[in-house]
Amino acid sequence: MDLRNLVMALAGAVFVLLGAAAIFLALRTSEDGPVSPAAINVSGAEIGGPFTLTDQTGKRVTSAEVIDGPTLIYFGYTFCPDVCPVDVAVMAAAVDLLDKQGFKVKPVFITVDPDRDTPEQLAYYAEAMHPRMVALTGTEAEIKAVADAYKVYYQRVDTADSAAGYLMNHSTLTYFMMPDGIRGMFRDKFPPEEMAGEVARILSRE
Ligand code: NI
Repeated sequence: MDLRNLVMALAGAVFVLLGAAAIFLALRTSEDGPVSPAAINVSGAEIGGPFTLTDQTGKRVTSAEVIDGPTLIYFGYTFCPDVCPVDVAVMAAAVDLLDKQGFKVKPVFITVDPDRDTPEQLAYYAEAMHPRMVALTGTEAEIKAVADAYKVYYQRVDTADSAAGYLMNHSTLTYFMMPDGIRGMFRDKFPPEEMAGEVARILSRE
């Protein structure tokens, strides 16, 4: 290997490492994570997969039934004191903006706290957030499986001073899905106008 080839090989390795680091950072964005104005383009990435969960009416639903068209999915929990309410409100606002542009997108909330997020609790939450919101829970194993499929990180944190007893640390990405797979991800506290614009741009190319 001559020097030029060696330099090219090293540059390639650095590029791959930077890419991997960027994806890792994007997937591990936490409640305190950085806010970026940019959507994350993940077309073709292995994110998502089949699931069966329980909706806010107590009905068992499959991923094919839930993602039957353009769908935005957020993983969180209804007792979340800070980021979830903001991000779910962003998703709801983006859905309303997309309605006005003629794109019907379904907002979906999947809990990472199935112990407390019963269908009844999710019904109350979904009704407050958006009239078309589908909110999903399941057994601990079902939630773990769907979180793994979407590369969602979550962890219970016991806190002495919390009235509810514990918090959940969790990643805060919003996933834009179509029935055949993922189209994009958005960071936490993403501007709803930009989320709607990005989704509309992708849908108009479909
Ligand atoms: Ni949260």
